[in-house]
Amino acid sequence: MKLAQRVAAIRPSATLALSAKAKALSAKGIDVIDFGLGEPDFDTPEEVKNAAIEALRAGFTKYTAPGGIDELKAAVVEKFLRDNNLRYEKNQVIVSCGAKHSLYNLAQALFERGDEVLIPAPYWVSYPDQIRLNDATPVFIETREENHFLLTRDLLAGRITPRTKALILNSPSNPTGSAYTQKQLEELGDVLLEKRLIVISDEIYEPFVYDGFKHTSIVAARPELKDQAIVVNGVSKSHAMTGWRIGYAAGPKAIIAAMETVQSQSTSNPNSIAQKAAVAALRLDPRFTQTMVAEFDKRRRQIVERLNQIPGVTCPMPMGAFYAFPNITALQDSRWKDRPLKTANDIADYLLEEARIAVVSGDPFGAPGHLRISYAAPLPLIERGMNRMAEAVSKLKS
Ligand SMILES: Cc1ncc(COP(=O)(O)O)c(C=O)c1O
Repeated sequence: MKLAQRVAAIRPSATLALSAKAKALSAKGIDVIDFGLGEPDFDTPEEVKNAAIEALRAGFTKYTAPGGIDELKAAVVEKFLRDNNLRYEKNQVIVSCGAKHSLYNLAQALFERGDEVLIPAPYWVSYPDQIRLNDATPVFIETREENHFLLTRDLLAGRITPRTKALILNSPSNPTGSAYTQKQLEELGDVLLEKRLIVISDEIYEPFVYDGFKHTSIVAARPELKDQAIVVNGVSKSHAMTGWRIGYAAGPKAIIAAMETVQSQSTSNPNSIAQKAAVAALRLDPRFTQTMVAEFDKRRRQIVERLNQIPGVTCPMPMGAFYAFPNITALQDSRWKDRPLKTANDIADYLLEEARIAVVSGDPFGAPGHLRISYAAPLPLIERGMNRMAEAVSKLKS
């Protein structure tokens, strides 16, 4: 059967594929430590679960407005004002089945053949394929490791063409863990304003910042951007709710309305019960998230220390998110027995098969020579996993 052309150009999410591989090994009784996952290992807070149970008991089980219930939109509006100093109306907000879904709707609403969309590399795996699925062209801007993989004003300005429609910015970043300061965002904002480019700001890792770093939204840094910016966020990471599938976006009324039309003709509303749960999450005492982030901070320090002790591995301290992003270029072109390991993909496969740890190759993130290692795992597991990695790396020959 002939599939549509657009599908031939895309691949399944590399992170989800790795997770499936790790789960398959676990199902065979093999003890795999999974550092591939982009989800907190904490349980969803009780208050949030209770809100869902109440919704269920009250029969809140029917279709809702396609773009989300008013009560949740109001909670999103409150959140943006409280946490980001951003003022939106409810008709500037859409609730989707996860931030990934908001981003996809946005790509459907904005992009078409001939459009170029700028993506700083390394990038989250889904951005390029979501753009390709909508016939537009992702244009990657290589950033430098020495500069914490951050996009600069000059790098941005240098890649803009008459076809450029938008920039996707992700701070804190998956996979690098880097995050932009207010000043850096102001500088990028100046270019975006001058060139009248749309900016999609993916802030899903907002609360996961360390060492006193303060997350700033680019729209708060340059309020003049508001008419050309869409901020995307969600409860998946902040409230350990990845399975509930609730994300949201805020931006100009016309764009949000177009996204809502796309959503109404594709998924309809996000799950009604999960929407009630998300209201409780957004109004929850911030101590839940703070406790989780404090725990992640300990893990961050531990894993980075352990990685830097492995010969051939160097790992900067990430400022945000929950990923270590070690450089392993020194391990490439090595061998294990007769098997050559040339790329980060080869090294990740070797580590899964031989060390029984699941880590993601940097290749699908546009970061050859790197691994992405999630530290959303308890400290003892991190210790065991790093022991295994150190041992496996020590077996490699150059
Ligand atoms: C950078 C980034 N954006 C968006 C998402 C999507 O989150 P969700 O669809 O669970 O809300 C993820 C999830 O891994 C992510 O890493």
